[in-house]
Amino acid sequence: MTTRTAVPPRVRRALARASEHGFHGACEDPVGPLLATLAAAVPPNGRILELGTGTGVGTAWLAEGIDRRDDARLETVELDESLAAAVRADDWPTNVVIHTGDAEALLPTLGRFDLVFADAVAGKWTGLDLTIDALAPGGLLVVDDMDLGRYTDPEHRAAVLRVERTLTDDPRLVTAPIPAGTGLIISTRRPDLPHDSRDEETP
Ligand SMILES: C[S@@+](CC[C@H](N)C(=O)[O-])C[C@H]1O[C@@H](n2cnc3c(N)ncnc32)[C@H](O)[C@@H]1O
Repeated sequence: MTTRTAVPPRVRRALARASEHGFHGACEDPVGPLLATLAAAVPPNGRILELGTGTGVGTAWLAEGIDRRDDARLETVELDESLAAAVRADDWPTNVVIHTGDAEALLPTLGRFDLVFADAVAGKWTGLDLTIDALAPGGLLVVDDMDLGRYTDPEHRAAVLRVERTLTDDPRLVTAPIPAGTGLIISTRRPDLPHDSRDEETP
């Protein structure tokens, strides 16, 4: 397929910041346009969370998805204060909030989200359960860098398999691996069910 999504100006600036900072962790195609597409689908008053802001590439794509939607809100968390400050210095609408801090420490305090892009060590490779807990019913979780073929380090391969297994086996989630880019996994949190509703007999 040769379809190309236009790169929004804010994404271009975030990519330029990545070059300036020698930052190599920015999300790669097709994650960016996918994030924008999924962000555009959040419900009225929808909440979006990104773990690991980097230089703001994913943030900018997510923000593009909720462009001119005052009701929706995007929060992103970055541990590195200098990166967070550089991203914050860009021109963001007021419904985009950049937190500085440890994602794993902040997760239990942030509430529930309709879309989460887990792209930091914390909340993905460790503390994934906290991220799943932070999904609203019907909420979507996106993780990338899941293509096992890219890694030779046994520890990292084990970590990839652990994340994959957690997302696949969690009964609260419906999960699809998507073999695109660096390897994507998308999970939807099922609506919360009453404790015993699945055991009830049909009269
Ligand atoms: C893969 S990069 C994020 C890229 C960004 N999401 C994008 O799409 O361009 C991971 C980022 O997570 C940050 N990070 C690492 N540990 C973290 C933690 N415990 N809490 C929050 N951010 C963390 C790193 O500083 C780095 O900027």
